[in-house]
Amino acid sequence: MSKTVLFVLCLINKGITENVNKPNVLLIFVDDLRHLSTDEVILPNIKKMADTGVNFKNAFAQQALCAPSRNSILTGRRPDALHLYDFYSYWRDTVGNFMTLPQYFKEHGYDTYSVGKVFHPGKSSNFTDDYPYSWSHHPYHAPTEIYKDAAVCKNMITKKYQKNLICPVNVNNQPGKSLPDLQILDYAIKVLKNNRTKPLFLAVGFHKPHIPLKFPKHYLDKIPLNKIHQPKVPYRPKDMPLVAWNPWTDIRSREDIRRLNISFPFGTMPSKWTLKIRQSYYAAALYVDHLIGKLMLHVDTRKTVIVLTSDHGWSLGENGLWAKYSNFDVALKSPLLFLGSGIPRKVIHEPVELINIFPTLVDLANLARIPQCTNTKDKSLCIQGKSLEPFIYQNITSRSFAISQYPRPSVYPQKNSDKPRLKKIKIMGYSIRTKRYRYTEWISFNNTLFTINWNKKHGIELYDHKLDPYESINLRTNKHYKNVINYLSKLLKTQIDTFKVETH
Ligand SMILES: *[C@@H]1O[C@H](CO)[C@@H](O)[C@H](O)[C@H]1NC(C)=O
Ligand SMILES: *[C@@H]1O[C@H](CO)[C@@H](O)[C@H](O)[C@H]1NC(C)=O
Ligand SMILES: *[C@@H]1O[C@H](CO)[C@@H](O)[C@H](O)[C@H]1NC(C)=O
Ligand SMILES: *[C@@H]1O[C@H](CO)[C@@H](O)[C@H](O)[C@H]1NC(C)=O
Ligand SMILES: *[C@@H]1O[C@H](CO)[C@@H](O)[C@H](O)[C@H]1NC(C)=O
Repeated sequence: MSKTVLFVLCLINKGITENVNKPNVLLIFVDDLRHLSTDEVILPNIKKMADTGVNFKNAFAQQALCAPSRNSILTGRRPDALHLYDFYSYWRDTVGNFMTLPQYFKEHGYDTYSVGKVFHPGKSSNFTDDYPYSWSHHPYHAPTEIYKDAAVCKNMITKKYQKNLICPVNVNNQPGKSLPDLQILDYAIKVLKNNRTKPLFLAVGFHKPHIPLKFPKHYLDKIPLNKIHQPKVPYRPKDMPLVAWNPWTDIRSREDIRRLNISFPFGTMPSKWTLKIRQSYYAAALYVDHLIGKLMLHVDTRKTVIVLTSDHGWSLGENGLWAKYSNFDVALKSPLLFLGSGIPRKVIHEPVELINIFPTLVDLANLARIPQCTNTKDKSLCIQGKSLEPFIYQNITSRSFAISQYPRPSVYPQKNSDKPRLKKIKIMGYSIRTKRYRYTEWISFNNTLFTINWNKKHGIELYDHKLDPYESINLRTNKHYKNVINYLSKLLKTQIDTFKVETH
């Protein structure tokens, strides 16, 4: 054998060995799935995954809105670095050509697939789901996704089809005789069954339990209405600044809810409907859980790193609120699980952020580390998140915290308070969650310069989770907490101004 042939063989062998050492990666996104406790509903498949891997019980989104949260997760940079707080800008064309998580894997020899809702579709991913930068193949979208907002929910009394919030369906009667998540599951299984020479990075994004709460109706039978509880604190928090309130405009405008004539912006959901919405949300979550169970049957967990998360949480009547669009704990807290290939079993209670997923997966797949960004405007190849590997493989006891934010157009809640467009944003609410406290400052924001003014405050909130896990009493004027407030205010300001992420 000539030297050249041998050399080439060695290279090929090296390639193969490298690929053998590279685990496959499965990233599962569940849209709008809040962190559900087992006394609300048991999701058997997700529970099984949580019990076999690392379960982060206090993981928080950067912003409780799909596009900013997903772009943050997938670039490892906070909304302020992407200048994205709504749905209408694409970072590569507006701020910088930042690397994404799937792109990094693609550039390191992975075959990368997007199936379902991974990037938020539309302008914020340039109407391409960031293809071809992030993906080796054209992103897959379910054909029945075009009916996502169709009037297909039967009104039991009038027998008419409506655009309801609560929408249990008979799948065979649906247009296309299927539902997007069923088609997404089928496609994802096909990808898993493909023969390949490269390691796989597969991102699968399920649409439910995002509204409308549309799911095969037999899931309702598993969650009888008489087993559903009212939220522990169904009223507005005491001394809450008005700017903190999200008026859940999208919920009010669904046909079944609109009929209830709930006054805007502070009217509350009738308690019977609170139970019905909770029931359907749990049923929709159970439906997706079932699909995830089916997906997992096709995954070799010994050779795959699996992460399951959501883009943010969801209020189910807590504090009188619904949906996302706020800085409250329930709207920000997301499931976050890592399991598979050599990952131990444990539960972590330290607060962490979803921008940490990117560097964590880089570590778990043994790819070359990406440095942490050094300042707010760092445009080099860097990540603002921090790897969670020390939590996963060591026993970390030091304190950590999570930063989130939410924009508002005004102090008093108005129709666009849930989803203000950049041009209308005048206030930014920055929030820090430590193990014990949630502390939030709502301050003036300049939407052309992207600057903030800490001296112009429109609201301050402090909730003590040790005494008040449902955030029902704002303690900001309570003199016993004066030192806590001073401390958290300084910490928050430093974090936002410097973008330094917590050191363990
Ligand atoms: C985004 O899409 C527009 C319109 O198709 C295109 O001109 C632009 O180059 C795209 N941006 C990037 C970074 O590819
Ligand atoms: C994958 O390879 C196996 C063994 O060569 C073959 O039996 C199978 O049909 C292939 N599957 C696909 C989807 O090509
Ligand atoms: C809501 O308002 C409409 C029009 O004013 C009225 O016909 C309807 O009965 C009201 N519904 C409820 C539930 O109060
Ligand atoms: C972490 O703690 C667990 C339980 O106390 C122990 O079994 C394990 O060996 C520890 N791991 C490390 C890396 O210290
Ligand atoms: C933002 O700053 C610019 C420049 O100082 C100023 O012209 C503009 O009015 C400011 N916008 C707001 C909303 O304050």
